[in-house]
Amino acid sequence: MVDSMVPITTADLRKKKASRQPIAMMTAYDYPSAKLVEEAGVDVILVGDSLGMVVLGYDSTVPVTMEDMLHHTKAVTRGAKRAFVVADMPFLSYHGTVEESVKNAGRLLQEGLAKAVKIEGGKEVVPVVKRCTQAGIPVMGHIGLTPQSVHQLGGYKVQGRDLAAAQRLLEEAQALEEAGAFAVVLECVPEEVAAKITESISIPTIGIGAGVKCDGQVLVFHDVLAYASQLKPKFVKSYANIGKTIVEAMSAYVEEVRSGKFPAPEHAFHASEETIKQLYGEGVAQS
Ligand code: KIV
Repeated sequence: MVDSMVPITTADLRKKKASRQPIAMMTAYDYPSAKLVEEAGVDVILVGDSLGMVVLGYDSTVPVTMEDMLHHTKAVTRGAKRAFVVADMPFLSYHGTVEESVKNAGRLLQEGLAKAVKIEGGKEVVPVVKRCTQAGIPVMGHIGLTPQSVHQLGGYKVQGRDLAAAQRLLEEAQALEEAGAFAVVLECVPEEVAAKITESISIPTIGIGAGVKCDGQVLVFHDVLAYASQLKPKFVKSYANIGKTIVEAMSAYVEEVRSGKFPAPEHAFHASEETIKQLYGEGVAQS
C-alpha cells in the first residue's frame, strides 16, 4: 500500500537502482485499473500498447494507433496521481521523420498527461530518443523481444541467447543510455544476459521474462489477475483469478434475473399512494 502521495520522478527511479530497491511497474489501461494499481503501491504505470491484445482483442500490438494510446493514457492519468505514468509509442508512430516522432511523443505528454514515453528498439531509435530527451520528453527504452516486431522476429521468442545476440543487446542498452533514456525494459532475455546489462548501465533495467537481477519488474495487469488474458507465457505469475470470479458473479446474476430473484424488494423504488391511485384507478388492487 502507498505510504505517501508525493509523485514519483525519474530521479527516484535512479535512486532505487543505486540503493538496490526493486522497482514495481505494472500496466494499466483505464481509470479504475490505474487507481487500483496505484493504491497497491506500484511505482511506475505503463499504458502498454499490449492494450491492443488484452483490451481491444487484436492478435498483436501492431494495429494499435496513436488515438488508441491517447484515449487510454488520458483515462489512466485521471486515475493515477502518484505513480510515474509511461505511455507506449505505438507501431510506426516513431518511424517517420524525427520531427514527426517527437511530435507524437509530445502528444502523449501534452494531451495524455503521461510523464514519459516508451519506445521499442535499439540503435535504430537512438536519434528519436536523443531528440525527445533534448525536448524534455523522458524516454524508456525497450529491447529484447519487441512485440511490435513480432512478424519480423518470427514469433514471441526469447532473445539474446547466444554470445553475439547477448552482446548486441548489451550494446543497444548502452546506446539507449547514452542517448538519454532514463530506463530500459528487457523483455524475454536470459537472466544472465539481463544481469550483465543491469550491472553495465547506470539507468534502471525493468525486466519482463528477464529474471530477478533486473532493477525492477513489469507485468501486464490482465495476466497478473488472470482477467480473460489469452496467453500465459512462462514468465507470468497470476496473483488472483479475477476472470473466474467475474464469471461466477455474472452467472449468479443471470440465474437470479431468470428466476425472478433479482431485483428484490429492497432494490425497487416506489411511487406515492396518490400517484398509484391515479395511475391504476380507484379499487385496483396492488400486488
Ligand atoms: O505493452 C506492454 O504491456 C509492454 C510490456 C510488456 C513491457 O510493453
